[in-house]
Amino acid sequence: MTRYRYNTATTLDGFLADDADSLDWLLKQEFDEHGPGSFEAFMAGVGTQVMGATTYEWILDHEKGAWTYTAPTFVFTHRDLEPANETITMVAGAPAEHRAAIEAAAGDKDVWMVGGGDLAASFAAAGMLDEILVGVAPVTLGSGRPLLGGAYDLRLEESDRNHEFLVARYAVVGPLGTR
Ligand SMILES: NC(=O)c1ccc[n+]([C@@H]2O[C@H](COP(=O)([O-])OP(=O)(O)OC[C@H]3O[C@@H](n4cnc5c(N)ncnc54)[C@H](OP(=O)(O)O)[C@@H]3O)[C@@H](O)[C@H]2O)c1
Repeated sequence: MTRYRYNTATTLDGFLADDADSLDWLLKQEFDEHGPGSFEAFMAGVGTQVMGATTYEWILDHEKGAWTYTAPTFVFTHRDLEPANETITMVAGAPAEHRAAIEAAAGDKDVWMVGGGDLAASFAAAGMLDEILVGVAPVTLGSGRPLLGGAYDLRLEESDRNHEFLVARYAVVGPLGTR
């Protein structure tokens, strides 16, 4: 069965980015790519990725228009955005409407939910979020883009440290109150 895995860095107070979509608080951190929470190891299991339009535009902007991912990507947007290349599909609407296409693209690998937090929550509400993997940076922002726009019971499965990041893997149990 396809696993949907939300893997992201976050501040301790649960933000993916600041109010201006800046990741300066993250990019200044040290992280050992071969240590706990290795992104390289995670990516080896990824067959397809899903993200919202702000995240897509941030990546393109940050990479100066280049798209460095090879896995098929689904971008949720209500706008008529031009895909950067043929691996990118623009979609809109409820996650369940796209489930078959996403799982076909993933093949026998995982779906990486890249973010943001409201999209991740809409996947969770559709029963399309199995795990949340976070690297918690030693930073608070006070406000910004939320890690997850919903109330869920989680189960801590693993935790470790990578430099000053707390890295943790949670199983999504269900809507808050499930247990
Ligand atoms: N810390 C990290 O590692 C990390 C990870 C991921 C993201 N980020 C950052 O966090 C921020 C997240 O931005 P965000 O909170 O705005 O979330 P986002 O999910 O990246 O983008 C939200 C946008 O996606 C579109 N969208 C979402 N759900 C949709 C649906 N069901 N159907 C159609 N369109 C839909 C809408 O855009 P339209 O206006 O186009 O309709 C919506 O405004 C970004 O700055 C990103 O770079 C950081």
